[in-house]
Amino acid sequence: MSMKLGIIGLGKMGEAIAAGLRRSEKGAKGWVLAGTTYSKASATEASKRLGIPCHTDNRKLVAESDILLLCVKPHQAESVLRAVAGQFRSDQLLVSICASITTAQLKEWSGGKPHIVRSMPNTPCLIGEGMTVLSAAPGVDEARLEHAKNIFSPLGKTAVVEESLMDGVTGLSGCGPAYVYLIVEALSEAGVKVGLPRKVATLLAAQTLAGSARMVLERGEHPAALKDEVTTPAGCTIDGLMALEEGKLRVTLIKAVLAASKRSKTLRGTSA
Ligand SMILES: NC(=O)c1ccc[n+]([C@@H]2O[C@H](COP(=O)([O-])OP(=O)(O)OC[C@H]3O[C@@H](n4cnc5c(N)ncnc54)[C@H](OP(=O)(O)O)[C@@H]3O)[C@@H](O)[C@H]2O)c1
Repeated sequence: MSMKLGIIGLGKMGEAIAAGLRRSEKGAKGWVLAGTTYSKASATEASKRLGIPCHTDNRKLVAESDILLLCVKPHQAESVLRAVAGQFRSDQLLVSICASITTAQLKEWSGGKPHIVRSMPNTPCLIGEGMTVLSAAPGVDEARLEHAKNIFSPLGKTAVVEESLMDGVTGLSGCGPAYVYLIVEALSEAGVKVGLPRKVATLLAAQTLAGSARMVLERGEHPAALKDEVTTPAGCTIDGLMALEEGKLRVTLIKAVLAASKRSKTLRGTSA
């Protein structure tokens, strides 16, 4: 049986999730979608692009939905939820994708009635290759957590962690696509430097990343073991690896995740 999913905030992420659900067979069967934006113009545009009802009345959306997915910017979450707190029912589930906003804050701002799950998706959800991590508020049962997972499972992989780990999740898989695009861009530059046409260089870079990531996922081996398979004694790869170690690639990536995780703890109240 389909459930009614109301998406508050059909911006970049809200729309990516709605579009992904519409495209996937499982998502299209499982959910009846509707959404809101702040401005009427955005609502009209989103409705045209997605082919779902979209308006600016959050109270109506809450009243008509089984599950609400909160996709506004973190600094907008409190005012949006407080304005509709009176509409929530105790049989509803509120799932937030807002970075840094805790389940305790969501519970308080929404008036205490709905069950709360916090999540962190990433933009590859748009093509069904996303990574979404979820964390349930105390007292949320397995069935409700499963409903929340069902929003994201047609859009890629899902995992569940303790809420204390969610800032780390934001720094790794939430922000991670940006790090990877930077790496693809750099490898593509390298390809151009060694004489490859730009288009070919970008294809080689992106497919090498995608294929290697898939090897890790499918073989389930430690990445270091897979790296050893490519590294012939006195061959070419070890010279490349030495250059990466000299450039401190590993510690740079670790620092990137730490910096983004730290920022995630402080996002609320800023306009990011
Ligand atoms: N970007 C990422 O990679 C990523 C990854 C994981 C999680 N997130 C989280 O996703 C959330 C949304 O980010 P985003 O990049 O999608 O932001 P965005 O593109 O700015 O979208 C925000 C949306 O919220 C709408 N909105 C604002 N106030 C509203 C209100 N009172 N009622 C209804 N809708 C309202 C806006 O409407 P208008 O269009 O009319 O202004 C806009 O459509 C953030 O909390 C972020 O932490 C983002």
